[in-house]
Amino acid sequence: MTAPTRGLRRPDGPAKLTGTAVYTADNQMEGVTHAVLVPATVPAGRITHIDTTVAAAAPGVLAVLTHADMPRLHLLATPPLGQSTLPLQDDRVRYEGQPVAMVVADTAEQACHAAGLVAVAYAEVAGPPAFGAGEPVAPVGGLLARPRRMSRKFNAEALTLKILASAVAVASSSRRRLAGSRLRALAGRHDAVGDIEAGLASADTVVTATYTTPDRHHNPIEPSATLADWEGDQLTVRDATQWVFGTRMVLAAAFGLPADHVRVLCPYIGGGFGCKAFVWPHTLLTAAAARVTGRPVKLVLTRAQMFTSCGYQPTTRQTVTLGATRDGRLTAIRHHSVNPTSTFDDYAENATDGTRWMYASPAIAIATRVQRTNRPTPTPMRAPGEGVGMFALESAMDELAYSVGIDPVELRLRNEPVVDPMTGRPFSSRPFTKCLRQAAERFGWPGRTCEPGSMRDGHQLIGWGVAAATMNTFRMPSSARVRLHADGRTIVEVGTQEIGTGLPGVVTMIAAETLGVDPGSVEVHHGETNLPETSGTFGSSATMGVGSAVAAAAGELRAKLDALGQAGGYAARLAQAGLDSLETEARWDPAEQGGGRSIHTYGAVFVEVRVDADLGLVRMPRCVAAYAAGRIINPLAARSQVIGGITWGYGQAILEASIFEPEVGRFLSKNLAGYLMPVNADIGNIDVSFVDDADPHASPLGAKGIGELSAVGVSAAIANAVFHATGVRVRDLPITVERLLKPAGAD
Ligand code: MOS
Repeated sequence: MTAPTRGLRRPDGPAKLTGTAVYTADNQMEGVTHAVLVPATVPAGRITHIDTTVAAAAPGVLAVLTHADMPRLHLLATPPLGQSTLPLQDDRVRYEGQPVAMVVADTAEQACHAAGLVAVAYAEVAGPPAFGAGEPVAPVGGLLARPRRMSRKFNAEALTLKILASAVAVASSSRRRLAGSRLRALAGRHDAVGDIEAGLASADTVVTATYTTPDRHHNPIEPSATLADWEGDQLTVRDATQWVFGTRMVLAAAFGLPADHVRVLCPYIGGGFGCKAFVWPHTLLTAAAARVTGRPVKLVLTRAQMFTSCGYQPTTRQTVTLGATRDGRLTAIRHHSVNPTSTFDDYAENATDGTRWMYASPAIAIATRVQRTNRPTPTPMRAPGEGVGMFALESAMDELAYSVGIDPVELRLRNEPVVDPMTGRPFSSRPFTKCLRQAAERFGWPGRTCEPGSMRDGHQLIGWGVAAATMNTFRMPSSARVRLHADGRTIVEVGTQEIGTGLPGVVTMIAAETLGVDPGSVEVHHGETNLPETSGTFGSSATMGVGSAVAAAAGELRAKLDALGQAGGYAARLAQAGLDSLETEARWDPAEQGGGRSIHTYGAVFVEVRVDADLGLVRMPRCVAAYAAGRIINPLAARSQVIGGITWGYGQAILEASIFEPEVGRFLSKNLAGYLMPVNADIGNIDVSFVDDADPHASPLGAKGIGELSAVGVSAAIANAVFHATGVRVRDLPITVERLLKPAGAD
């Protein structure tokens, strides 16, 4: 790793290290009961009978709940639902792993034991064809999930990160009115500029190939968990969520309560990566069980249930066609992607998004389609869209580089756009070539010999590869309150939860800098709906949204303090005014900033791989990456995010895959023994640097988002390096040993 970077150490670090940071499942409560879900064992059909008598008689069991007992919930009235159907509402089974019963007992062990005693009989029906065997369709308008049957009022296109921006905005002002026209405007998943056929006809070289990425599961260290407690018609829920206000919105709608009757708390989550961004059935079922039993109920999903209960990244099949002149200038870019979704929601993995703005071309055509299968509904996972899409685009660019005989760095420089190629809009900032040059120099790229297999070291084949990274910029409104006390403390209050990215440190720095106080005097209170409303910790948006709100509140507070008089410190001014404290609350709304510009983040990733010539094992001794992601507020936290993102990208390239078995309609991976992830020994030296990119159009801070960007491009850089090392072009992730070992005599 590179030398320590300047910045603020995590103020939340000591609490996490000493175990005093409380996560959802850690909460203890007088009289709490424990719930365990019983998952369906068939992928499609009806429940014909459930025998609960043995389970109900087991020790400690308080209730065995089925669709016959559960209150009917109003589910589709608000946007941030992970899926559009809730189990235990009818006798239908829509995917393997869907809860068909729920046991509540005095202890978790008793509930777990009794859950195994529930006997369920099914009338199984044949599902739709497996992914790839049927005809994909255009998603019904939606960017992500959208139920096929739905009223206009709760258009679930709002289940998108883009739409969450409007959802939050709309939710804050008027919870009911999701402007239909605005949502539809974002719905087109086929888009084109220029004449793609003419572009291909005028090309000297055309490369076309199909790339696939596998199903993957988020699997944060902390499994999803909920603790629900009713007092009359007041509901208090502790939930492992990336968006306490989204959870409140859904619970209020589901139980027909005003929002102020629901309080959701989540100071910390042990990662999420998207699987806690939306509200999934277990949260609603836990609240329902607490209402039915009249007791507080705690539910923690098992690791196995994490594979069927809170989304996954769907496998994608992407075809990229690039046409270029002899000197490597693109004449056409075509990128099509298809992914499986559930039978009841259209989740489109927007793999073609980055292709919209990455390279200049007179003709660009993109399309995303879905295919309905008997699976759970997929959901965004760290770097949704670009994370898998840039694997295909950047692999194709490498193939083009070899086809035209131009260095892959030079090829990218030659196709740098002046304006956004699909919209014609100016870029808010576009430091991609700076990233490329900076990282190339730090990596030592000019020392590369072009020929595959030409950099051998004994039995190790050395490969150097490069890829671009880019990510959409999700900007969401947030509020914050800042209060300065006469004793010198500054309190920052924000509703958002800390997901592990270091947000408390970032807002500490922002408040301290704006007020001109010592960061050590700043305390951050976060993680519950009684604090000022914020967007979720997803879409790499929190520094922009929450940070800008804190900057606004602290700025207004400073003005108020200055109005008290310029002489003496703040404490003296407060004392003179006879005040114990002074506070302000402010809101930042991105709708008021950066309009009409194409706002994105960029990076360039260079990797060295070493492939064992006999065994096909791939190692990555070093990765050098440079990023432009707006003003970097806390370099220490940003670098930490990037190391995590690059490690995530290595996992995508080499290890991760959830195997879905179409014959039995289920994910075979149900634990971390059957789902490989990188460990420390897999990751070599990571050199992270940033390019100066303070972007005043993105946010008042000049900041953008970094976390997801760093997970993009790594897999393509590795695949390109593997080609350089071995001459084998792997277009299907992960790059397993068997994909590299060629039978003797094979081409
Ligand atoms: Mo991330 S997929 O925005 O949690």
